[in-house]
Formats: sequence, structure tokens, C-alpha cells
Amino acid sequence: MCGIVGAIANRNVVPVLVEGLNRLEYRGYDSAGIAVINAADEVRRVRRTGRVAEMAGAAEQEGLTADIGIGHTRWATHGGVTESNAHPHVSFGELALVHNGIIENHEEQRAKLTAQGYVFESQTDTEVIAHLVHSYQKQGMDLLHAVQHAVKELHGAFAIAVISKKEPNRLIAARMGCPLLIGLGENENFIASDVSAILQATRRVIFLEEGDTAEVTREGVVVFDDNDQVIEREVHVSDVSLSSLELGPYKHFMQKEIHEQPRAVADTIEAVVDNNGFGPELFGDGAEEVFANIDRVKILACGTSYYAGLTAKYWIESIADLTCDVEIASEYRYRKVVADPRQLVVTISQSGETLDTMEALKYAKSLGQEQTLSICNVPESAIPRASKLVYYTRAGAEIGVASTKAFTTQLVALFTLACTLAKVKGNLTPEEELGYLEDLRQLPGSVQHALNIEPQIAAWAEKFAPKENALFLGRGVHYPIALEGALKLKEISYIHAEAYPAGELKHGPLALVDESMPVVVIAPNDRLLEKVKSNIQEVRARGGEMFVFADLDSNFTESDHVHVIRAPRHTGVLSPIVHTIPVQLLAYHVSLARGTDVDKPRNLAKAVTVE
Ligand code: G6P
Repeated sequence: MCGIVGAIANRNVVPVLVEGLNRLEYRGYDSAGIAVINAADEVRRVRRTGRVAEMAGAAEQEGLTADIGIGHTRWATHGGVTESNAHPHVSFGELALVHNGIIENHEEQRAKLTAQGYVFESQTDTEVIAHLVHSYQKQGMDLLHAVQHAVKELHGAFAIAVISKKEPNRLIAARMGCPLLIGLGENENFIASDVSAILQATRRVIFLEEGDTAEVTREGVVVFDDNDQVIEREVHVSDVSLSSLELGPYKHFMQKEIHEQPRAVADTIEAVVDNNGFGPELFGDGAEEVFANIDRVKILACGTSYYAGLTAKYWIESIADLTCDVEIASEYRYRKVVADPRQLVVTISQSGETLDTMEALKYAKSLGQEQTLSICNVPESAIPRASKLVYYTRAGAEIGVASTKAFTTQLVALFTLACTLAKVKGNLTPEEELGYLEDLRQLPGSVQHALNIEPQIAAWAEKFAPKENALFLGRGVHYPIALEGALKLKEISYIHAEAYPAGELKHGPLALVDESMPVVVIAPNDRLLEKVKSNIQEVRARGGEMFVFADLDSNFTESDHVHVIRAPRHTGVLSPIVHTIPVQLLAYHVSLARGTDVDKPRNLAKAVTVE
């Protein structure tokens, strides 16, 4: 979603801002802009709908140079995708501001500011912040105090960066509910919503806390807490690698990230393998006590992360013998729930900043549910910081909007959780522990083998590309993988796809099946295989074309209408992870064949920081 970058230096910062916005593109956006204070102390601004490259071209044409500036990628919420709604927003030609998040009381503020003579040029909620800060400056406050006053009047979530021509030697930043960090350089400093935006300039960062404001000059940074008192915040050194932000030899980030999965899985299991067993210490200090004090699990997540949770339910119930409920975070946060202090609340989030998941976690905590664990891929992001325990997946930065390596590593983390809970609860024999450990050790190799079937899947994709609908079927622990396969296909190829537990077919979706309906079946050789085969017959009898992902020895007869790809290895209990690879590859190749924008699917965003 929206992205922020800001810089103050002794050099031209326009290339820094453009590079930063390029790095933020992956989050999803529909317009971009920058504003600077030039050598003549004027606010200059360039905005464009469409890609950052167009905006950067316009900035170059206009000869924009400056040693202080802010930039933004906007994903439209309040107001359409137009240049006048794009950020930065300017007040009286004096002050420019960029904003991530949503201001809930913007209408009331707009009315108040209009009465004071402010004229609004956009339909955004953001413009009210620009005018509000300006109105305090007009009363004689300096920029820092004007921002500190203004943000106290705002309801909602925001991260903002502000510059003013009256004070051309400082950037002011503020955060409440949306991530924002400060990058520390040598006689130059930066602001960003995401470390990737400033990685080319520095790795040393300060994460602002809720309610913080910051004054950023060339010489240094001063952070203020929500009472406007100066506060020291820790300096972190980011370990996000620049190579994870580069395409390398790949055509798309999604393709790269699919192929990175053997490494991502190996990195994520490293701690377990090094530990030579499952243990609560893998989940952070105090985990042993937390796990001893819970007797059920609630998982909260959105999108792909929710499907990881659905898969985990099978493992947690069957291996740890604990009841596990999985719920979409945006639903949980708005219903009356029965609080249970003996429930472990697990949030799963690749980005660690999905607003609905964060709010669901806050809601659970407000009900007295103190035992919280976050499974997350982004260190120091908001959700793990609000949780008692954390398990970081080590997928590396995921740029493709359609989540791939984050999902499989979440599954690894959740499997580890199931085994650890089983051990703490006395439900794991030493033999079982050794067996599961060995399964995990074999996993990177099995994922690599699954990637080797890519050419066969690419051939299937040609048959899929002209279709407008598809069905995905799975049973048991593979049903969530069918859901994930349908979601991947929808997200990037725009083919309408639905997933069902195969046993549900006859209760409705079978009515859709005819010769034009491709049906993808995930059919590993488990105890439900014979049931799945019967379900396949039901589809065949209606003329549907079957695409079956099976195991080595699943014993399927191929025909003109039943295509089978066999997984090259048995993977037992971790089979859902390995069977994820073909559905990812299928979505990727169908998208290629249809010519859609694989990494930036229309209307979608990587990190959803609004409701
Ligand atoms: C967005 C992304 C999905 C992701 C979902 C949840 O919709 O496009 O790929 O699964 O958010 O994100 P999270 O970061 O919380 O896992």
C-alpha cells in the first residue's frame, strides 16, 4: 500500500527519493509524487498517476534538484486515482506532506479548516493534515510543534512526513498506527515507511513507536514520545539484503521467490535443526511458561496467512492434541468473542503490519488474552512487537504481491509450533520427535524436487490460459492448499477460481462442471486418496477436465481429460508444503500466458495497512 520516503542531505536528494519510491513499488500503488524545497526555498512538487518511472521522468524534465524532500506512492482510498489526489499535499504553497493510513475524522476537520479559509484541492483525508499543520504554523508555532499539535487532533492511523519552506533544514515525521522509521546516515538522514526504501543509503534505523514524532536534520535525529518528551529509541542495523530487492536472472519477483523456497525453508528450520529438537525457547523468552499455561489455540490472520493458519489447525489438533480455531482477523475484531485466558492467540502475518491482524491482536489482548505469539517475516514490525512471543520466518524480503515463500515458511513455523506444543504437553514421543525432525531436514530437498516439475506445469498453463473459471479440490490438510492455489490463480491471472473440500463437490459446485471447467485436484497418497478418486469420477462423469497433482504412487490413470503430475518424492506429514509449489507455479505460468502484471496485480497491495 502507500509508501513514504524522505531525505535531508548535503547532496541532491531527488535521486534518493526516486530510488526509494522504486523500492516501494512492490507494496502496490496507483500514483506517485515528490515534493522538495529547492535552493530558492520554494516548495516544488511533481505528481503523476501510474508508475514511479513516469513521475521520475517528469521530475527530471522539470530539473528538480534539492537537498531536502519527501516522496510517496499512493494506493487510493479516499478519492479516486487522480493527480490532484496524489501525495504530497501542499498547504498555501508553503508546506508539503505525505501520509500513509486513514484519518477517520477528516470530514469534521475539513469543515473546520474550510471555515478558516482553507481551500481543498483533493478528495483525500490527507489534505486536512497539511492544512491543519499549516494552521498551527500560522498561529506562530514552529513546524515540529505544529505537527505535534495537529496529530493530537487526528483519529485513525497515520505515518506522516512534512517539510516547510519556512524551515528548510528539517523534516518532521510522526507515527500512529502505521509503520515509520528513520534512517541514519553521515551528515544525512532519512525517513521511510519500509527499510527497503532507504537501504541504498543506510542500514542503521530507528523504528518510531506509536505516538512518536521526530525532528530529522542533516546533523541528527531527535525523537519525542506521545507526551512530546525527548526519548531515546534504539538504533537497529537492518539485515534485509539488497539482493533480495533485486530481480537477478529472473523475469519476475514471484518467479524468483518461488525458486528461493528451498533456501527460505532451510533458513527457517535452521534454528530447529541446530537445536536438534523442538523446544519452547525457539519462540522467545517465557515461551515455556506460556505454552504450559494454555490448552487451546486461536489463529488470526488474513489472506494467504489465513490459509497457513487453516493448514496449521490440522497439525496442531493431530500432533499436539490441542483444539485449534482459525479465524479471519477482520471478522474476529468486530464480533463479541468469548475470551479464554488459557488460549494461545497466534497471529500470522508476512508483513507484520496488516491492520486487521494488528487490530484483532489488540482486541484479543483487550479481552485479557495475554498469551500471544506472532509468526512473522519482518523483524521489528508492529505485530511481533505487540506480541509476547515471536517466531520469525526467514523467507527474506518478499516483493511479489502474491505471497509464495512467505507462505511455505509460515507453514514450516506452524509445523514447528505444533511439534513444540506437543512436546510441552507430553504428546510427542522421542521417536516421533526424531521422525518429524528428519522430515524437516528433508524438506528443502523435497521443495527443490517439486520445483523441477516446472516445465510440465508450464505446459498445463497453456490449457488454462483461455479459461475464465477454475475449481480447486483438496481434502484434509490439503484443502487449505487448494484454497491457496485458487487464491494465487485469482490474484495474478484474474481467472475466477474457487476451492472446495472435494467431499463438498456434490453439495453445489458440481453444478458448475462442464467441459469448459478445469478442475485442479491435490491428491497425495494419503488416507483420503480413495475418497478423492471417487470425487474425481464425479467430475469426469460431467465432462470436466482434470489436472491432478498426485504422489509418486497415487496410481492415477491418465487420459485426454485427466492430466497427472506426480510429486517426485514422498513427504509425509509435510506434504502440504511440497504440494504448494505446483499450485504457485501454475498461477505464475497462467499469468505469464495471459500477459498480466505478475508482480503487481491490479487493485491489490502487498501490505494492507487500511481496513
Ligand atoms: C495482502 C497480500 C497477501 C497477504 C495478505 C495478508 O492481501 O496481498 O499476499 O496474504 O495481505 O498479509 P500479511 O502480511 O498479514 O501476511
